[in-house]
Amino acid sequence: MSSKVVPFSLKDAHSLIERLLPVQKLSAEAYKEQMAVHGKTLTALGSYWKGRKPLILNKACILGCLLPATEEPERDLAVFERLMGMDDESFAVRWKRRPKPKELLGALTIGRIADYFTAVPEGVLPTSAPVDWSNESYDGVKVAWREDLSELERRRLEAQMLPRVSYRERVDEARRPEEVQDTVHDHIWDEVNAHLRTDARSFPELVEQLGIMRFGHRPKVADTFCGSGQIAFEAARLGCDVYASDLNPIACMLTWGAFHIVGGSKESRVQLARDQQDLIRRVRAQIDDLGIESDGAGWRAKVFLYCVEVRCPQTEWMVPLLPTLVVSKGYRVIAQLVPDPKAKRYHVEIRSNVTDADLHAAEEGSVRSEGRGQDPYLVHSVDGREYRTKVSTLRGDHKRPDGSNGNRLRLWEKEDFKPRPDDIFQERLYCVQWMRPKKERGDESSHLKGNDYEFCAVTAADMMRERMVEAFMVEHLADWQKNGWLPDMRIEPGVETTRLFRERGWTHWHHLFNPRQLLVAGLMNQSREARLKFGVMQVVNASSRLSRWNQSGGGGGIVAGVFDNQALNPLLNYGCRASTYATDLMAGEFKSFPMGSGSVSVNTQPANTLASLQDILITDPPYGDAVKYEEILEFFIAWLRRSPPTEFSNWVWDSRRALAIKGEDEGFRREMVGAYQRMNECMPDQGVQIIMFTHQSGSIWADMAGIVWASGLRVTAAWYVATEAEKRIQEGSSHVKGTVLLVLRKRLGTEKTTRDELAWEIQEEVERQVSDLAGLNQEAKGLYRDENVFEDADIQMAGYAAALRVLTRYSIIDGRDMTAEAIRPRVKGETTFVDGLITFAVDTANQCLVPRGIAEGRWKKLQPAERFYLKMLDLESRGVKTLDNYQNFAKAFKVRDFRVLMASSKANDARLRSAVEFGRNEMSEGSEFHQSVLRAVLYAVMEIAKDVDGLEVLAHLGFNIPNYLSDATQREMVVELADYLAKRLEGLRPEEASAARVLRELVGNQRLG
Ligand SMILES: C[S@@+](CC[C@H](N)C(=O)[O-])C[C@H]1O[C@@H](n2cnc3c(N)ncnc32)[C@H](O)[C@@H]1O
Repeated sequence: MSSKVVPFSLKDAHSLIERLLPVQKLSAEAYKEQMAVHGKTLTALGSYWKGRKPLILNKACILGCLLPATEEPERDLAVFERLMGMDDESFAVRWKRRPKPKELLGALTIGRIADYFTAVPEGVLPTSAPVDWSNESYDGVKVAWREDLSELERRRLEAQMLPRVSYRERVDEARRPEEVQDTVHDHIWDEVNAHLRTDARSFPELVEQLGIMRFGHRPKVADTFCGSGQIAFEAARLGCDVYASDLNPIACMLTWGAFHIVGGSKESRVQLARDQQDLIRRVRAQIDDLGIESDGAGWRAKVFLYCVEVRCPQTEWMVPLLPTLVVSKGYRVIAQLVPDPKAKRYHVEIRSNVTDADLHAAEEGSVRSEGRGQDPYLVHSVDGREYRTKVSTLRGDHKRPDGSNGNRLRLWEKEDFKPRPDDIFQERLYCVQWMRPKKERGDESSHLKGNDYEFCAVTAADMMRERMVEAFMVEHLADWQKNGWLPDMRIEPGVETTRLFRERGWTHWHHLFNPRQLLVAGLMNQSREARLKFGVMQVVNASSRLSRWNQSGGGGGIVAGVFDNQALNPLLNYGCRASTYATDLMAGEFKSFPMGSGSVSVNTQPANTLASLQDILITDPPYGDAVKYEEILEFFIAWLRRSPPTEFSNWVWDSRRALAIKGEDEGFRREMVGAYQRMNECMPDQGVQIIMFTHQSGSIWADMAGIVWASGLRVTAAWYVATEAEKRIQEGSSHVKGTVLLVLRKRLGTEKTTRDELAWEIQEEVERQVSDLAGLNQEAKGLYRDENVFEDADIQMAGYAAALRVLTRYSIIDGRDMTAEAIRPRVKGETTFVDGLITFAVDTANQCLVPRGIAEGRWKKLQPAERFYLKMLDLESRGVKTLDNYQNFAKAFKVRDFRVLMASSKANDARLRSAVEFGRNEMSEGSEFHQSVLRAVLYAVMEIAKDVDGLEVLAHLGFNIPNYLSDATQREMVVELADYLAKRLEGLRPEEASAARVLRELVGNQRLG
């Protein structure tokens, strides 16, 4: 790279992310990226991966570590936003359609038009004399941008056309910065270089120059829990030297794919497309040769539908287990179980184009459940009598003498790939979806493209083809396993995997695939080309005994991916893709972002064995993670481990469950400390680390502080970025999931302090931090269309961070060695020294968040629910509506169940209940609002709003507030709270605001006998 080395040192400079981060905007961007689902940059490499961290967030972290925090925070912020594509001029390019010159002329008042545009009468060559701009009609005139106009000036003008809406709404309408990556930053470099003293025209140049200023070389960035490679990929795309590792080889493979496929050269992509097509052709030809997917009359199978079949113990009938008889909603197809009393079994007939009533009636199948999580029943009728048997009874579930669970299922053996005749659960093909190219109509104008589809019942010929596939498998299974084309690996017991043998008797990973699936995937897996393995794994995910048949999906129905679900759940019926439909997945389109010149490496390595020096470490460890990567990814490992392609052959092809960091207990903390201690050792003194974790319980702060302390690190900042909305089915509402970024440095020296001194220091630091950010909000207001850079929840987070910053600076407190103290095993119920310090620190941060209009002394006396309500009302009056704010403050103020105080818990449209909506609720003893003055005040406001007589209102206040008549301070509090409500409700609910004013006067003027 030819970048000029700039002799200016940032060695001792704070990083920008240690001082500021535009978290609100970043949240909007990260949310947009997460919602893009399949449009995400790396998803096509492995849509089965759970928990990808948004690239835009990763970019913010990497740049935030490299950029300096200077004496001019507003300029730092402006430059950072330009680099992130968040400034107005970037939006001009991110906008889906850029305005034409004539549209700009029509909409804007432009002083000197000729400074921007040239115009010539239409039909005249541009060299002709220019048009007279004073004539305001541009009809018949061709207007163009001046060629010498700078990109920045052009964008400035275009940006004036952007709608004046909130940032979030803007992001909703715009493309993501990476979707216009080639051009979005064209206008920023002069300003960026002037501020940073660099000389860059691209990210790799900028990153290299900043790296040299900070570390003396191009920055080395590592992620030792790299998962799907989201962090590592972004670091490489920006131009860093990247080291990525993960315990899991599938994680490493996805990361490798990010570097070498999405980040691969244009030529390598052309070659890949060719290889993909070759493989698809080869597999389809082999299947055609076997004659197992076509009916000989022009129809070719698209999907085979299978279900479990069992003998009903009460009637001795064989019954197909179908949770629904609907086969395809879109094509109106249902299955009908036609009894065959002689054979004591059912024929499955398939009916198409049925009526609404038939479709509705078919929704209920032969398996029913009385509710979520309830054991399902087999239900069928013989001679008009209904028989019900629990599926667990069919299995013969029981407790063994030693207390463990057992059942009567036979455990499958390695050579099995289908049930044996005397197994309890049999498998049955019950329907085939066929397809045939549309017939051309006679007239030449209408060559119809596409296919006709038909769902059909299973025929004797179909069964013959089934037997052919099975015979092929009998002949080849062992060989193909030996060659590594098919899995032969045992399923180890685990939280996710034990269910596979308990519910089905499956003991090896290949048991999760039927013979057709083994055949198609096995043929594809014969290729040793690393880049083709990504498609093979997509096929394996999308065609297994665990692939749900979605009757409502497009094209008559869809065979869904195993990992569309978090867990490995055996199904009673499933879809099997025939070769055409399966191999289509091989040709999946990958995005293309050819990488720059930084080096990249990927390793299967436990995080605590890092062995190279790294300047910046950004990690997203498996904190209390619901995803059991180490178990579920064995599903894929099993397919690759015996014969991995050369590129992956140095990796350990095992999930090494024992080494995976998991849970939240003692062992988890110890292993995390091991990993972060090692990373700390591998980081120079001026290095920076960021740990990402999902904001969960309050105790997480103590855990994380402990881990950081014991690893020899110290906290320098923390930020909260809301990244996605998650539907919580039980709660029927959205839940916002966010990510906390903890910024860390090496703790140098052994500083000592006492608890008393700490108290003061924490207080001062928290207050300074809160006022710093509030100040930056004020200064930035003019610049950012009156939107806050930081909301209260961000400031609160920064407050916590400030407290942690003070705490983790010290190695010894009150003579105790904090490194040892932090990892001391916990005794149940005991509050440790560290817990006590953290609680104190967090409380101090919360104290700084008193809403405007409430005296600090009063604030301290309020109950948690009161604080929550008053604080959130303050935020609502300023237009804040996102649920994560409510979640965060409920946690901060220790409200047990804030949802009872809410009228709406929608992710982006949350709202408190009004006084009238509360009515008489939340007054009784079990409520967190019980006997609180605020609840009584809201009650009184409701009464006044409903025209209850003033004297009666006062009488009820006396009843609802303890010591109301005898204690003047209680009455003063009523007046203050009524005044507060009146002010905050003015714009939100004017009638209640007016009722609150009446209450304030009533109580203020009340004469007591
Ligand atoms: C939360 S995920 C990382 C996700 C990643 N940031 C992404 O965007 O895809 C955590 C990762 O840590 C890995 N892991 C668990 N224990 C590990 C260990 N001891 N050493 C290295 N990696 C480990 C898991 O395999 C998993 O991939």
